[in-house]
Amino acid sequence: MTTPRLNSEKILKALHAAYCHEATRDELLKMAATKLHAVGSPYTGVYMYMLHDNMLKLEAFEGRPTDHQEIPVGVGLCGRAVAEKRDLNVADVKADDQYLACSIETRSELIVLIRRGDLILGQIDIDSDEIDGFDEAEQAAVQRVADGLASLL
Ligand code: SME
Repeated sequence: MTTPRLNSEKILKALHAAYCHEATRDELLKMAATKLHAVGSPYTGVYMYMLHDNMLKLEAFEGRPTDHQEIPVGVGLCGRAVAEKRDLNVADVKADDQYLACSIETRSELIVLIRRGDLILGQIDIDSDEIDGFDEAEQAAVQRVADGLASLL
């Protein structure tokens, strides 16, 4: 596997330190979004959608603002990931009919579920202006952040 651009260990350390200093849920989500976005391309926009019953609600983000503050389960790529209980790595968003556009610049999207055991807490949704922006190593690095975050929320 290639080396990911994301240093998940560094982000997890920062999240743990913030947690030990009594950071709130909002602060932890914002911190995760900010630090993922700071990696730069392919991380163009980072959106933390958290699950409330059957609705994903945008609780923090970094990058371009989006009109999609709430997304029902089953709708769009974000809602599909929850409905199908799996992560989605969409290499070309323009080729997917279900895709809900946030920006016309976006070319690919990675959605990694934040899970605690069987429970889906939400997801890290990352937009990229690069086509096929996320390889296996990059996805695995985001997964480590999502798993670490799940234990802190
Ligand atoms: N593209 C997502 C919507 C979220 S915005 O891109 C931030 C979707 O298809 O569900």
